[in-house]
Amino acid sequence: MTLAPFGRRLCPVVAHSRYGAYDVISVLDAEGPAPDPGQFYMLTAGERWGGGTDERPFLPRAFSVLRRHEDGRLDFLFEDVGPGTRRLCELRAGDGVWLLGPLGVGFREPEDGRRPLLVGGGVGTAPLAILQDALGPEALPLLGFRDAAHAEGAALLHGARVATDDGSVGHGGLVTDLLAAELDRDDGAEVYACGPPPMLESVRALCAERGVPAQLALEAGMACGFGACFGCVVPTRAGYVRLCVDGPVLDAAALEVVE
Ligand SMILES: Cc1cc2nc3c(=O)[nH]c(=O)nc-3n(C[C@H](O)[C@H](O)[C@H](O)COP(=O)(O)OP(=O)(O)OC[C@H]3O[C@@H](n4cnc5c(N)ncnc54)[C@H](O)[C@@H]3O)c2cc1C
Ligand code: FES
Repeated sequence: MTLAPFGRRLCPVVAHSRYGAYDVISVLDAEGPAPDPGQFYMLTAGERWGGGTDERPFLPRAFSVLRRHEDGRLDFLFEDVGPGTRRLCELRAGDGVWLLGPLGVGFREPEDGRRPLLVGGGVGTAPLAILQDALGPEALPLLGFRDAAHAEGAALLHGARVATDDGSVGHGGLVTDLLAAELDRDDGAEVYACGPPPMLESVRALCAERGVPAQLALEAGMACGFGACFGCVVPTRAGYVRLCVDGPVLDAAALEVVE
């Protein structure tokens, strides 16, 4: 597990790009350590992040690292779902971002001989790109999106098979249909998944039925990101854990259900 340096650091945005419905920003974190796949950062825009008379005061927001480049650039993927992500989507080269991280426990290597299958839903694609960079292109991504605009996010990984809810791209239906077909073909896989809770619950149940190991990157509302506020607790078979320090990646077998 890679530990974050003490305190947060102000880093420059060096690029912004669009992938259909998603925004990607690259931030130069020249001094920070290389994150492990599945770790996350707490982000705050350097300017206009609440505090003014018309602005809601924001806490930092948690984001998976999408990709790390050799020169220390970190890419993050956003979907505009509220005031924090809207502000981060507006950032352009030359703007500043406060970074705290890398935080949490990321994905483990696959068990010996197991073939990695990466299963993502929507913005849950993010941690699977850095994971595929680490595991190699033989790690097969199965990605589910709402529609064609969101499915453009599949270009962030190599060789992804895509499902869309409206059938406009790839398989018309759920990404877990693609997973079930892959597991029927070959159950010597290890599954890595990130996405909305109903998708993760289906992945957990499918893998449990077949005895296939799975690692799930979960989400919870996070106020601090480093274990102090207990805002992010989730129930496991062994009791409650803080997702920001004990996760966000948990073994599927540790969970009764994903809620
Ligand atoms: C470890 C981790 C990694 C994440 N990685 C990414 C990422 O790579 N890209 C990305 O776009 N988002 C990611 N998120 C989610 C992101 O942190 C939240 O959506 C964030 O709250 C958005 O802030 P906002 O101010 O735009 O919206 P808010 O006003 O905070 O929330 C907008 C809506 O989303 C709901 N919501 C907020 N946070 C969560 C959550 N954690 N789980 C479920 N629903 C939530 C709220 O109830 C509300 O309905 C991640 C979250 C975690 C915990
Ligand atoms: S976010 Fe504060 S304890 Fe996890």
